[in-house]
Amino acid sequence: MSSTEQTLSIIKPDAVERNLVEKIKEIFKKNNLVIKDSKKIQISKEEAADFYKVHQSKPFYDQLCTYLSSGPIVVMILQGENAVILNRELMGATNPKEAKENTIRKLYGISIDKNSVHGSDSNSNAKKEIDFFFKH
Ligand code: CDP
Ligand code: MG
Repeated sequence: MSSTEQTLSIIKPDAVERNLVEKIKEIFKKNNLVIKDSKKIQISKEEAADFYKVHQSKPFYDQLCTYLSSGPIVVMILQGENAVILNRELMGATNPKEAKENTIRKLYGISIDKNSVHGSDSNSNAKKEIDFFFKH
């Protein structure tokens, strides 16, 4: 079964800083994901903590929130057939060292924390995350 979905993608500070925004957007477009909306913003540590609150008990939480708020990011709504899973496939594994060839994290990720992109992991989280950035 396939269906048109929307998902949230974030290009993280390490990738924005290295001018990889257009290269990453090309990967989405080439794979039939339409960029319905996109904006470059910088968020506060408090906003990052709210966005990543599902990870609040993890040892890496504080560092993760500091990192996501450390510089400009690009947040996007991606739309297409099975967009949630497709985006996760294009991103690759959380740890770039474990990511498959030609995935965004394999191509551009620096380390498990500076792994270039975020993508929603389910349809319900996609809706929440899109609202977080685009429906304030
Ligand atoms: O981003 P993804 O859904 O693949 O991974 P996650 O398990 O939801 O973790 C969220 C983010 O936390 C990751 O993308 C990493 O940037 C960071 N993280 C980390 O810094 N150290 C870890 N051991 C695991 C995750
Ligand atoms: Mg996740």
